[in-house]
Amino acid sequence: MSGLFITMEGADGAGKSTQIEKLKDYLSNKGYDIILCREPGGTVISEAIRTVILNREFTEMGNMTELLLYASARAQLVEEVIRPALEDGKIVICDRFVDSSAVYQGVARGMGSQLVYEVNRYAMGDTVPDITILLDIKGKEGILRKKKQAQLDRMEMESAAFHEKVSDGYRMLAKEHPERIHMIDGTQTIEAIHSQIIEVVDAILDTE
Ligand code: TMP
Repeated sequence: MSGLFITMEGADGAGKSTQIEKLKDYLSNKGYDIILCREPGGTVISEAIRTVILNREFTEMGNMTELLLYASARAQLVEEVIRPALEDGKIVICDRFVDSSAVYQGVARGMGSQLVYEVNRYAMGDTVPDITILLDIKGKEGILRKKKQAQLDRMEMESAAFHEKVSDGYRMLAKEHPERIHMIDGTQTIEAIHSQIIEVVDAILDTE
């Protein structure tokens, strides 16, 4: 039996973590076995790679290094956590996945989505999300929310123009993959967003 792979995407500060927790509670209460993970991270090795990628002092990091580090963290997470969980019939909810690379490295860094998907083919193979929830928020607004919470990491420290390219990139991606990516207005209340997310997830679970 194969499980269900759900990913949550959005610009920094879009509110993914809150919604992931609420979705997890909702599905657990319905009796589903849920595995949560985040990218970059989710395994000891991938978390170690995360500390390198997001280190505020590594401002000299090249785009290709960044792309490959994200892909390496992903390869380990897919092999160690995501693929086995799906093979076991579980629901995996992942905070970010390859679409983040398509948008941040492909669009905002200007590396192109073709290169990004080509590199990531090695990292994830045929493990692709069944549904992706995209929380749509203006890049600038998300960073303002983040600034209130904590010290910014290397990616969050990028310019307002970079974060605007990220939110535009997500909207383009959602148009390219309407069958998989469900875009939800991230400026609504937490409860309103949650009910739209469970509508999407319940619809796919009902067809299984
Ligand atoms: P997080 O703060 O949501 O955990 O994500 C870490 C940062 O890494 C965030 O700014 C988005 C960025 N990112 C990429 O640039 N490419 C990727 O492939 C992933 C997964 C995240």
